[in-house]
Amino acid sequence: MYVVGIDLGGTFFKVGLVDAKDGRILRKIERETKVEEGRDKVVERMAQAVLEVTEGNEYVGVGVGSPGSIDHDKGVVRFSPNFPDWVNFELGEKLSSFLSKPVFVENDANAFVLGERWFGAGKGHEHIVALTLGTGVGGGVISHGVLITGKDGIGTELGHVIVEPNGPLCGCGNYGCLEAIASATAIKRMALEGQKKFPESEIFLAEEVNAKVVFDAARNGDLLGKTIVDRVVNALAVGVANFIHIFNPSIVVIGGGVSRAGDILFTPLKEKVHHLVMPSFRGTYEIVQSPLVEDAGILGAASIVLQRGVK
Ligand code: BGC
Ligand code: NA
Ligand code: ZN
Repeated sequence: MYVVGIDLGGTFFKVGLVDAKDGRILRKIERETKVEEGRDKVVERMAQAVLEVTEGNEYVGVGVGSPGSIDHDKGVVRFSPNFPDWVNFELGEKLSSFLSKPVFVENDANAFVLGERWFGAGKGHEHIVALTLGTGVGGGVISHGVLITGKDGIGTELGHVIVEPNGPLCGCGNYGCLEAIASATAIKRMALEGQKKFPESEIFLAEEVNAKVVFDAARNGDLLGKTIVDRVVNALAVGVANFIHIFNPSIVVIGGGVSRAGDILFTPLKEKVHHLVMPSFRGTYEIVQSPLVEDAGILGAASIVLQRGVK
């Protein structure tokens, strides 16, 4: 039996045809999201990608991991910080009407943690905290083996915990959220803000300023690069230490494009978190880079179809 998983990101979306029995992704497509073209266009392109990815194969339904506060019974995106016109948007219904298949919508980071648990770093773990560092910062938590959603299904917005009071403005309207410092968008913003003070930084020799360029520069000892990475690590460490204190996870999985920075991010992060947590928590958890990076969102979204749609 095949199911489709869609990982909708602020910059790209990925669509995969997944074999329900072993989580194998048979085919995968990645497209630009182009939020600025409006929500209906985005849905049309998602539908088109589903048709392409499933061509010649029967599938039972589609799961979508979408950024934002999701009403998962209705498939409605209530609010999404990096998708300005997605307010009370009936994503599930729209996509379903294109495809004539059931569509299930869940928060993207919730889908990510489900995917990591199904076939990634979270396999065999009952207590998982997951973060996705991309256009936004997402959070997904599994506690006692169960996905935590909260009363309205919109909980675990770990990217919007405030780690720098009076810090930078976040897409959600608040200041100093983890997302406003540790997302790819924030890293790029901090680099551009630093241009005045560090005009000689190698960051500005790159064709395009982005998070990868900043991490590469830091690795080369570039001062602006190092300053930004420090700030990102500090913000993440404060967040992760808090999440460890709240959830007492056995594993903290960090994914999303920014996690590809690897050791330059993870080595100091692990050290800082170790210092920030209470002694009783030390040695109780591991912090790992997502082994699935690209695919956890697709797999998790696909797994939602199995959980909710197929009896
Ligand atoms: C949204 C989350 C989402 C995350 C990653 C945040 O801005 O509030 O709902 O999970 O971005 O896409
Ligand atoms: Na979440
Ligand atoms: Zn925020």
